[in-house]
Amino acid sequence: MTTSSTALALPVPDEELASRLRERMAVVERALSEHVRSRAPFITETASHLMEAGGKRFRPLLVLLAAEAGDRPESDEVVTAACVVELTHLASLYHDDVMDEADLRRGATTAHSRWGNHVAILTGDFLFSKSSELTAELGADAVRIQAQTFTRLVEGQILETVAPGPGEDPLAHYLDVVAGKTGSLIATSARYGARFGGATPDVEEALTAYGEIVGSAFQLSDDILDIASESDESGKVPGTDLREGVPTLPVLMARAAGDPADARLIELLDGDLTDDARHAEALDLLRKHPSLDQARAYVVARAQEAKGHLAALPAGAVRTALEAFADIVAVRST
Ligand code: FPP
Ligand code: MG
Repeated sequence: MTTSSTALALPVPDEELASRLRERMAVVERALSEHVRSRAPFITETASHLMEAGGKRFRPLLVLLAAEAGDRPESDEVVTAACVVELTHLASLYHDDVMDEADLRRGATTAHSRWGNHVAILTGDFLFSKSSELTAELGADAVRIQAQTFTRLVEGQILETVAPGPGEDPLAHYLDVVAGKTGSLIATSARYGARFGGATPDVEEALTAYGEIVGSAFQLSDDILDIASESDESGKVPGTDLREGVPTLPVLMARAAGDPADARLIELLDGDLTDDARHAEALDLLRKHPSLDQARAYVVARAQEAKGHLAALPAGAVRTALEAFADIVAVRST
């Protein structure tokens, strides 16, 4: 799905709020296309590649929506914060696609496939440095929050590449990874929105907790899509996590079930899944496995938990939209 000034990646029933968010997203979109510019045309091309390929813009949208819980949602700082989180996200995707050796992102050829790993990694660095420059405009506290978020993103991404420690539950390890690599930046999106939109400290705290859980749910539903979706739906190559040996939620749940009928699946999972035939067989078995629905139910429960934090906000259009945001993340199909 691409972002345009007329479409939001979220149903907002209140038309007044929806139209305000669309207008603000268009401002963010224009600002982003300026921020990915470099003095060197080649770098502008590599840095704008993924942004122009589309994307749901969930993180900046959450900044704008959380800002509506405050008394100055229209402040320039909110737009800056929305750009900060999207640029950080984009940066991380350039690096992630190198790590995952992914061919496709947002329906487009990945940067490393097109320009090689060096250019892809350094373009990620370029986008992250642009994001950092912008964060400096938001003051020292915002810089600290951004740096802490970056630490968590990187920790999560590194921990994903190592096995759980001795005695550590594999599912707990994985949930910790997910909270770091995705929960952290979505929590910061909600937090920046609340903070720069002028919300009270209580609301900022509640929205941060909400964002952390919604963020993890978002990643877990991405894991489910990696198994369940066809590539034309997700714009990515299905089964990438599986091929890379990343043990995501449905896989961990299938393993934990310990059902003797799963012997073949476990054998495949324990072996080399870079082999096309074995990979296709494992993907097929997982698509039929009850762990897929179990994983879906877990994500829906996390979304419910996230919505619980919204009790700190008055009932109304903003809270309803944030509830819808949690729901859509849990059952998303792209
Ligand atoms: C996608 O995971 C990856 C992330 C959400 C985080 C990646 C973080 C880093 C690479 C750390 C470096 C960060 C910066 C800012 C330079 P996935 O592979 O499970 O999801 P996918 O299906 O979208 O690829
Ligand atoms: Mg990836």
